[in-house]
Amino acid sequence: MALIETSELMPGVRQFLFNRPDKLNALSSPLMAELDAAIDAAAADPAVRVLVLRGAGGKAFVAGADIAEYQGDKRAAFIAYQMNSRRIFDKLERLPKPVICAIDGFALGGGFEIALCCDIILCAEAAQLGLPEGRLGLSPGGGGTQRLVRAVGKYAASDLMLAGWRMSGRRAYELGVVAEVTDDLDNAIAKRARACLKIAPLAQAEMKRLIREGSEAPIETAKSYEQEVLFRLYSTSDGQEGIDAFLEKRDPQFKGE
Ligand code: COA
Repeated sequence: MALIETSELMPGVRQFLFNRPDKLNALSSPLMAELDAAIDAAAADPAVRVLVLRGAGGKAFVAGADIAEYQGDKRAAFIAYQMNSRRIFDKLERLPKPVICAIDGFALGGGFEIALCCDIILCAEAAQLGLPEGRLGLSPGGGGTQRLVRAVGKYAASDLMLAGWRMSGRRAYELGVVAEVTDDLDNAIAKRARACLKIAPLAQAEMKRLIREGSEAPIETAKSYEQEVLFRLYSTSDGQEGIDAFLEKRDPQFKGE
């Protein structure tokens, strides 16, 4: 298996490892198919509240698409791979549950594109992130050019793409892409996952959608989306439970309804 599930971190949290360490976890077609299925399984299972993605081997999260599959001007296969990547990355971005990505080494090309589809990115000091496709005479194709420029602005995005610069986890933190830089990723993942489990699932799903869709809409429209969401959440049983629990000084029991 090119994508393996680790033993459960804690109830409600599912962790997957990209597992082609001899190829720096490059995204072969079989690996992409396994990622596709893992996202579907996480979406379908209400017991899964948080998804965690990591790389095996300690040297890379994912070093991009498997360049060996590109060789030989196989245009139809190349286009199919790119369309498929776009579909899978979009699905990951739209998963209505938080996705944590932990980067311990290289997150390049498609690896960085995957990270940009996640919600909370954690990095080790040694992490190196970038979109070096230009060095191959190519450009990113899984949404990376657009997600990156929206995340960091024109100048930082240009540095990574036009100069092929690889940025450190610390630089990504300064740019607001990374939530935490630490060499204790296990602990950082556990802390963030525990915190995510305390947020009501419907509120989480709605806020995730607002972050994604609201930032693409004119601000007055986005503020209207925001209020529609809040009004809907207020009338859910979890909304009422959260308020009651606070006032009764107890932990809320959210049911996702
Ligand atoms: N696709 C296929 N194989 C890859 C790969 C990729 N994206 N990235 C790394 N590998 C393979 C290497 O070919 C090598 O395989 P080998 O041992 O059979 O020769 C192995 O992984 C280790 O990589 P290597 O290049 O020897 O490690 P390094 O530490 O010297 O360099 C990188 C690490 C990440 C800088 C370098 O591997 C690299 O530039 N990779 C490609 C990154 C990229 O362009 N990604 C976008 C792809 S569209």
